Amino acid sequence: MHDGVGQAPVIAIDGPSASGKGTVAARVAHALGFHYLDSGAIYRALAHAALQRGVALDDGAALAALARQLDLRFDGGETYLDGLPCGAAIRSEEAGRAASRIAALPAVRAALLDRQRSFRRPPGLVTDGRDMGTVVFPDAELKVYLDADVHERARRRYKQLIEKGLDANLDQIEQDLRARDALDAQRASAPLRRSADALLLDTTHMSIDEAVSVVLRWWEGRQPR
Ligand code: DC
Repeated sequence: MHDGVGQAPVIAIDGPSASGKGTVAARVAHALGFHYLDSGAIYRALAHAALQRGVALDDGAALAALARQLDLRFDGGETYLDGLPCGAAIRSEEAGRAASRIAALPAVRAALLDRQRSFRRPPGLVTDGRDMGTVVFPDAELKVYLDADVHERARRRYKQLIEKGLDANLDQIEQDLRARDALDAQRASAPLRRSADALLLDTTHMSIDEAVSVVLRWWEGRQPR
């Protein structure tokens, strides 16, 4: 299914918005010296590009065409679109909602598959998203489903936004998270779901450090494929 470089191991971490999967995935990648892919950033950057270019967020064909030619690069935690840093523009709740809308379109998801798979390079890849273990890397060596109570996720997202100097309202964030969870889990194309072979990690009462340690322990103890 994958090409010559496709044999590098993959750790796929899926879960709902603000579950902490991005931070955990990046830290696990760093600890193992693996590459890291934040697949949500691709959907966010695509939605951002569409809004900039006046492409309607429900026009699957136009969005898929844009997805194929998008000049997107990741470096040092920043996302670059056409060579320019996206900065906070793709990190707002509004950007997340727009990303979630376009992510429900099958043509968009199909157009982004190869781009996501191209990040699978030696010595390995840690990636986070909604369908990394179910659709994009079904043969991942380790699949984790990272979850947390919605109140706790809202609190974490609130803290993140405030720390970045952005406006935030806790109740509104929780409402948004619930809406986005519903959209991501109920769509027909690659919905958010825990696959049978994904290990469940509930981080409601866990620090980031603890969650990272658990994933690293699971990685050490994995069964070779
Ligand atoms: O992980 P995130 O909040 O940055 O993702 C933003 C949106 O992108 C999310 O609400 C749904 C979509 N997404 C997706 O459908 N599949 C992925 N693998 C990653 C993100």
